Amino acid sequence: MPFPIQRLRRLRETEPLRRMVRETSLTPNDFIYPVFVTEGQGRREPIVSMPGQSRLSIDLLVKEAQEVKALGIPAMILFGIPDRKDERGSSGFDPDGIVQRAIRAVKAQVPDLVLITDVCIDEYTSHGHCGIVRDGKILNDETLDCLRTMAKTHAQAGADMVAPSDMMDGRVAAIRDELDRAGFVDLPIMAYAAKFASCFYAPFRDAANSSPQFGDRQSYQMDPANKREALREIDLDIEEGADIIMVKPAMPYLDIISAARERTLLPIAAYQVSGEYSMIKAAAQAGWLDERRAMLESLLSIKRAGAEIILTYFAKEAAGLLQSRP
Ligand code: PBG
Repeated sequence: MPFPIQRLRRLRETEPLRRMVRETSLTPNDFIYPVFVTEGQGRREPIVSMPGQSRLSIDLLVKEAQEVKALGIPAMILFGIPDRKDERGSSGFDPDGIVQRAIRAVKAQVPDLVLITDVCIDEYTSHGHCGIVRDGKILNDETLDCLRTMAKTHAQAGADMVAPSDMMDGRVAAIRDELDRAGFVDLPIMAYAAKFASCFYAPFRDAANSSPQFGDRQSYQMDPANKREALREIDLDIEEGADIIMVKPAMPYLDIISAARERTLLPIAAYQVSGEYSMIKAAAQAGWLDERRAMLESLLSIKRAGAEIILTYFAKEAAGLLQSRP
């Protein structure tokens, strides 16, 4: 009798065979493309720490939205870079703020692209924290009022979905209540439910100029060591009314994505953050990794772990490649 009986290599022999038994595949439908919007006209400022990404003025953002749609990507998430910051982050909840104007412009030109907004005050505060600060402390309940107003102004400007990323307790319930009172009962919330205090956000903070001016974010973002606590965060956000829950970052937290997938029937999103993107870009630029393969393998791993939605700066590149494949 030939040995061994079980030969898993039988199904790996040819490309069509491998395609037949493939368990996971990527499509442009899986992606949300994150973009940075800034003041001005005809402005495209490359972000040095994120090769291939730029801060765009609203007119160029509209063009970008058209490209994103043409690539078959269903959604974009918007981050605002305001020209003024204060203690309360009030430029973030100004009905004529940068994000609110960007939403109106994009929705007018590309109405069927899903436009999601990041709800968090850190890009708008002079101290760079995601909450109101008093005596060196980040105040939870006071911050909720800012988040309510911010989410409402995004909805009024025409956003299709809001995504709170601040990690204050009770913010999903507060935002749900505010949206419902304002008549936006059908507007979904994608909650950054398990958001870890990660070093992988560094290039984003450079892009958004949002590094905390003192201390760090460990009193509100999660300890990277904790998995049970991540599941509690997810449970709470679902109870509070989240429609989609997110795990962030993605690759160093695949176990959390997988545990979340086992636990809930809600759609799960994962954010392949700036540092994950820039690591691959930098290694490719040095000639140490094949960029395309590293990109696709990393995205596939996130989907295989259980995320059906991936926020990624690679969205356009990946969608372009996937479109041109069999
Ligand atoms: C907070 C926010 C951050 C990111 C998304 N939303 C920064 C932070 O928490 O410091 C990071 C995204 C990335 O690194 O790509 N508004």
